[in-house]
Amino acid sequence: LGNGLAKTPQMGWNSWNFFACDINEDVIKETADALVSTGLAKLGYNYVNIDDCWSELVRDSKGQLVPDSKTFPSGIKSLADYVHSKGLKLGIYSDAGAFTCQVRPGSLFHESDDAKLFASWGVDYLKYDNCFNLGIEPEKRYPPMRDALNATGRTIFYSLCEWGVHDPALWAGQVGHSWRTTDDINDSWASMTTIADLNDKWAPYAGPGGWNDPDMLEVGNGGMTYQEYRAHFSIWALMKAPLLIGCDVRNMTSETYEIITNEEVIAVNQDPLGVQGRKVYSYGPDDSLQVWAGPLSGQRLAVVLWNRGSKTATITTKWDVLGLESSMSVSIKDLWKHEYVSKNSVASFGARVDGHGCEMYIFTPSTVTHSAF
Ligand code: GLA
Repeated sequence: LGNGLAKTPQMGWNSWNFFACDINEDVIKETADALVSTGLAKLGYNYVNIDDCWSELVRDSKGQLVPDSKTFPSGIKSLADYVHSKGLKLGIYSDAGAFTCQVRPGSLFHESDDAKLFASWGVDYLKYDNCFNLGIEPEKRYPPMRDALNATGRTIFYSLCEWGVHDPALWAGQVGHSWRTTDDINDSWASMTTIADLNDKWAPYAGPGGWNDPDMLEVGNGGMTYQEYRAHFSIWALMKAPLLIGCDVRNMTSETYEIITNEEVIAVNQDPLGVQGRKVYSYGPDDSLQVWAGPLSGQRLAVVLWNRGSKTATITTKWDVLGLESSMSVSIKDLWKHEYVSKNSVASFGARVDGHGCEMYIFTPSTVTHSAF
């Protein structure tokens, strides 16, 4: 699948987390409009992805998939043209099984026809789900769609939604551009934290060309607090997760907007080095005081101090857990306050962190100057 995509994690929007099956072409068009008018598109959120429920319940007499005539009466081609006219890309959804999870026709054994149809519509992205898979191994069901997409000659992002069932990190790098590592997220602190920990395990398998996918963002959907959503976004960015917004971007609160438009946090996610940050240290009651970190280009580090407990606490990181010599002098920029909080920290750094919240930083170690010379 060497088509040059996914050098950094994909960014955009997907209909599922907020709209589920309640979608139609107007919602998709208005979302494309909103991505542009809010400035989200300029920040890199360029895929507009339609999830499940876009198609009729059965194929037509020629065996082709058909867009739902009530909700997508103008068809997907016309929607793709509209989305492209806004400078954005269109994503669609199907399933490596007999049916999608909402029981629309799946693409198993129809890979070539469906890939050709998607390409003819101008589709740029396929999310490929795992329901009704007839018990056939995913390693057998996902590559045929990769080959069918490649054969169309159109450059199409291929997102595997296999839920981490058969440890896709171990094999999907050869198959798609990203692979879900877990079951579905829901809009709660418990779900988000569980998924972050599960996805962490697969960090070594992510890199330019293929990313672990801990599922789409819930920021802005109402089930978590500001602090929790900020932690969700910070950790997803650090983990090099796809940044697929899952709220209604036509109606965002200023807090939601502030979180998902943080350019410095987005830049961590899109850093060209492409190394997934990890939980490097945890301590305190229930290991609730956590240090997550990963390398960035230019010898820098991204560091998140994450308080998984419910009370404000001080979290301190020592240089050794970050792989730094303890004598190293480090300048520290706070990515949520947007200011330098230290120019020359040595050996350790600590901060007060709200319950369920996080602070996120870029650490830039100074170039070592030898006093002896
Ligand atoms: C599965 C996927 C979700 C979503 C739904 C749609 O549960 O994991 O992300 O696509 O199907 O039915």
